[in-house]
Amino acid sequence: MDTNSNSNNDTGILLVGHGSRLPYNKEVVQAVAAKYAETQPDYNIEVGFMELAEPNIPTAFNKLKETGVKKIIVTPVFLAHGLHTKRDIPTILGLEVAEDAKKLGSGHSHGHDHADGEEHGHHHHHHHGEEVETVEFDGEIIYTEPLGADDAIVNIVAERVNPHLE
Ligand code: NI
Repeated sequence: MDTNSNSNNDTGILLVGHGSRLPYNKEVVQAVAAKYAETQPDYNIEVGFMELAEPNIPTAFNKLKETGVKKIIVTPVFLAHGLHTKRDIPTILGLEVAEDAKKLGSGHSHGHDHADGEEHGHHHHHHHGEEVETVEFDGEIIYTEPLGADDAIVNIVAERVNPHLE
């Protein structure tokens, strides 16, 4: 079959979740990806996790790469930017790290506490002095903003809060 006319095959989509030792983060991010995939059935979509869950970002990225795509769009399914989105994920992708993240970028701690009590003692990616697994890709990587203060997020907040208002 001639697939040259289908430029969709040239583009892959990678959604990145944080990961957790508990299954919920992975389940939610995969469910978001599955629902999004229903809206874009012609594209290859993979999910990768920053830490604590598999597949990791390089594994998911390389799965897309092996489909022969020329472009991979990477979107962090994070609410806000942090050191993972500003430093760790760009580093894994071989992209330039923003200056503000570079300043905070050295040392063992990756600068955020996990409120659910997860320790960062088994981080795959960002222990000081530990080798970071990175990707190699001849094509184009488009690294997008995280979710942010979008109206859709506000709507979700309203859905959670409003039923409990008088
Ligand atoms: Ni973390």
